[in-house]
Amino acid sequence: MFISFIACARALGSTKAVLHGTLTPVTMTVTNANSTTIAPVRQKLSGYDFYRQVLGSPRYIVAPMVDQSEHAWRVLSRRYGGQLCYTPMFHARMFSDPVNGHKYRAEQWSTDAQDRPLIVQFCANEPEHLLSAAKLVESDCDAVDLNLGCPQHIAKRGHYGSFLQDEWDLVHNLISTLNTDLSIPVTAKIRVFPTIEKTVAYAKMIERAGAQMLVVHGRLRDQKGHKTGLADWDAIRAVKQAITSIPVIANGNILYHEDLQRCLDYTGCDGVMTAEGNLYNPAILASSELPHTWAMAEEYLGICREFPTRLSPIRAHLFKILQPSLPHHTDLRTRLSKAGTFDEVWDIVAELKVRLMEDEVRIGEEGMGERDELGYKKVPYWRCQPYFRPELPADNGASGSKRKKEVGEMEEVMEERTQQKKRGTEEGKIAEDEECVKKVKEFATVEVASGRISKGFVDYCTLQDVVQSVQTENSRI
Ligand SMILES: Cc1cc2nc3c(=O)[nH]c(=O)nc-3n(C[C@H](O)[C@H](O)[C@H](O)COP(=O)(O)O)c2cc1C
Repeated sequence: MFISFIACARALGSTKAVLHGTLTPVTMTVTNANSTTIAPVRQKLSGYDFYRQVLGSPRYIVAPMVDQSEHAWRVLSRRYGGQLCYTPMFHARMFSDPVNGHKYRAEQWSTDAQDRPLIVQFCANEPEHLLSAAKLVESDCDAVDLNLGCPQHIAKRGHYGSFLQDEWDLVHNLISTLNTDLSIPVTAKIRVFPTIEKTVAYAKMIERAGAQMLVVHGRLRDQKGHKTGLADWDAIRAVKQAITSIPVIANGNILYHEDLQRCLDYTGCDGVMTAEGNLYNPAILASSELPHTWAMAEEYLGICREFPTRLSPIRAHLFKILQPSLPHHTDLRTRLSKAGTFDEVWDIVAELKVRLMEDEVRIGEEGMGERDELGYKKVPYWRCQPYFRPELPADNGASGSKRKKEVGEMEEVMEERTQQKKRGTEEGKIAEDEECVKKVKEFATVEVASGRISKGFVDYCTLQDVVQSVQTENSRI
């Protein structure tokens, strides 16, 4: 009945379509050509009204994460303090493709009535594609977000994410199209520029274009992989001070629960978003207690039984949750990297649990709370802990030659893909990119399992990141 009222309002050319979750209690009336009252129409909320009334004023937010903020993960994150979740980034054109879109959607996208508040994120460079994709989810989420922060090579080639940050007209057009034609609000997630002035001007342009909330990831486009470094909270604070009509969310540098409040205090932002902090400790938003790795892994797998999830995100999650524990039980790490079924994964976690419980009894929690020589908290390896990405050595890892062969092979794959893309059609380019990413991920998974490269790359890596990563480890071997 509600939908037919929307259709009716639309047919009459009413101001905005309306859907659950985004409605203000204040109503207008729609009248037909004979001035007969048809039905009450409620307007789309904007800015702080949207933030408070629809989203529930969330302060702790779980980031969009490709292949990692999937439905099952959102269930877990909400249990542990996530007040707003984002889907992974979806490719708007592939999502709305009339021929193959249904396959893409079936593989990537699922939700249910409990999965709220929820923002669905897309990357796009064509307003029509973005709108078509957004329309497919507008009744199942609270807003649609435009990804303006992805710094990866695939985004450069596909012309989206942070590679749009120099095309302000296009960004404006993408956002204003959704603001005008979508029944739910549009939001955006950006990275910062080298100067605060430019970052603020960019944010203001996005606000003017009609975004109803802005997430600022305080890193530059180049800050990725081994160059990730620290996020710039000063830049985020400047944006928050300059933008007054919509909520601003801070993102970056959240390693421990205590960092959440520090970030809110420093930046003055309305909320704070975490990605890696949440992946390595799914309970980071709930409390400063560091949970047992096995307990989080077990709980996540229990949720996956209920919300069917592909094995590759499951394995990637487990490698992160169990990151401190697996180096102490390397046989299980190897088994996990090769596990081909959910039941195998389940058994491995069950076995690890038994061993870690024994370890805890045998060794005890001494050292908990102390800091190591770098100032990081010492935490027993059976507890979740943040990931510190290693920096590349001065020689870029080139001195390590032990595994140059594999690196060379990966570089060949990269070159081959580049050549293929030069020859390929637009469709081919995307498919090849995906194939390339798949290969990189397979390679990275094996590398992580063997403990040779850092864990954070498994899912959000570029070929270059993996190659660099392997080089770094070479230099240590
Ligand atoms: C595994 C992974 C996947 C990510 N995928 C996305 C994505 O789909 N969309 C996006 O806007 N950012 C993505 N990011 C970036 C995060 O949302 C976040 O901006 C970044 O990691 C900085 O936050 P952090 O310091 O809390 O990790 C991803 C990050 C990681 C680690």
